[in-house]
Amino acid sequence: MTATRAHAYLGFGSNLGDRRENIAKGLAVLCESGRVEITKVSSLYETEPVGYTEQGLFLNAVALVETELSPEDLLSLCKDVEVQLGRKPTVRWGPRILDIDILMYFVESGDPLSDDSGDSAQIKMDTPFLTLPHPRMWERGFVIIPLAEVNPDLLTPDGRKIKSLIRDFRIWTGLRLFEFGLMWQGAGLRHDRRRIMRFTEVESTNSVAVNLASSGASCGTCVIAETQTSGRGRRGRLWHSPPGGLWFSLVLRPEIQSQDVAWLSLIAGVAVSSAIRDTFGLPAVVKWPNDVLVSGKKVCGILPETRFIGDKMDFAVVGIGVNVAIRTDLLPLQVRETCGTLVSPDHPHASEAREALTVSILDNFSLLYKQFLSEGFLEILQKVREYCDMLGREVTVLRLGTPIQGIAVDIDSDASLIIRTKSGENVHVVSGEVSIGVPGAGYARE
Ligand code: BTN
Repeated sequence: MTATRAHAYLGFGSNLGDRRENIAKGLAVLCESGRVEITKVSSLYETEPVGYTEQGLFLNAVALVETELSPEDLLSLCKDVEVQLGRKPTVRWGPRILDIDILMYFVESGDPLSDDSGDSAQIKMDTPFLTLPHPRMWERGFVIIPLAEVNPDLLTPDGRKIKSLIRDFRIWTGLRLFEFGLMWQGAGLRHDRRRIMRFTEVESTNSVAVNLASSGASCGTCVIAETQTSGRGRRGRLWHSPPGGLWFSLVLRPEIQSQDVAWLSLIAGVAVSSAIRDTFGLPAVVKWPNDVLVSGKKVCGILPETRFIGDKMDFAVVGIGVNVAIRTDLLPLQVRETCGTLVSPDHPHASEAREALTVSILDNFSLLYKQFLSEGFLEILQKVREYCDMLGREVTVLRLGTPIQGIAVDIDSDASLIIRTKSGENVHVVSGEVSIGVPGAGYARE
């Protein structure tokens, strides 16, 4: 008789000792058992405890595994792994080194007692030892969010795709991203940690990221601050960074030439625009070279900075500032009219919305960035054309010397903006302050 091939989603939680290490070891021990194959593991999320709240914050993740074990045998393997990691009996929902729950279990072919989901059938059961699917999974953000990352198309009990749930900001309550990117994909554990470093207040996240990168921080390190006292804008301007905004900087170590840095800004612009569309349903567009607008108002500015050793790039830092839920009336007069905020600062779930947006931006950015490094600029150029609504419109570029006026016709292979002037000449602009329509109105904050 051949064993039934099945796949299951497992939820991991730890709030004692080295929490990341506990989850990583738990995965490794599961894998070494030879009874399950780990296919994919989500990012790590830090979450406030539920039930018994007098305990430390948890780290949570979700894994997709393949197995020939029955649900009961898979459960006993998970419990063995918890004990091997040193778990001791504790109060219900109390602190633990490692907790592994089976969330959902599917077999390849249909079972008359279970619901169909794609080609496989979900097992439903309720015994004194095991209830499937997990009875509280759909109430828990720390399950839904990482589960949606592992399989965005998974169906909820009411037939919606799970990815549609992450726009309900309430499920982000008490949860924040701890380490970004799939922790395990196919071959094994990822060792380059894309750490999220959070600060209440810094001078500038770009400065912090530059310092960290200079002392060896790995590619993907992300510095986030609640406020900045001297946020840096383009052309040496101050970037006002009140509470409620998303102010962050990413450390990257791409092997690219200095002239390709402009692509990093455009990747960030597309990643932010697409994340705003997905998270808030707002019509965000890229304004070449470094801004994102919603309904003509600037909601995001991007500032790349680079360091070279000789002619080789040592690192790049991409700083991204998004006015998620800020009081625009606190901005200086000269930029108040041109800047917008995505939601009101009084929005009841403003900080949860900011977390959802952060995850979406990082997700988009890492996809586009990987594609850019492996395949070159063509795909991102296509995306910029799709997201940049100034193409085909009258623009004025202010540079040192005379302003250039004309129709923005395209973006070139070197990321420059091509402007067709009245005399029919195509001028390639590499940098500058662009205003759409009316000459003279810059958007960066003074
Ligand atoms: C612009 O002038 O439009 C670019 C603004 C970039 C602001 C962001 S906020 C996070 C990061 N840290 C900084 O100091 N600046 C960037």
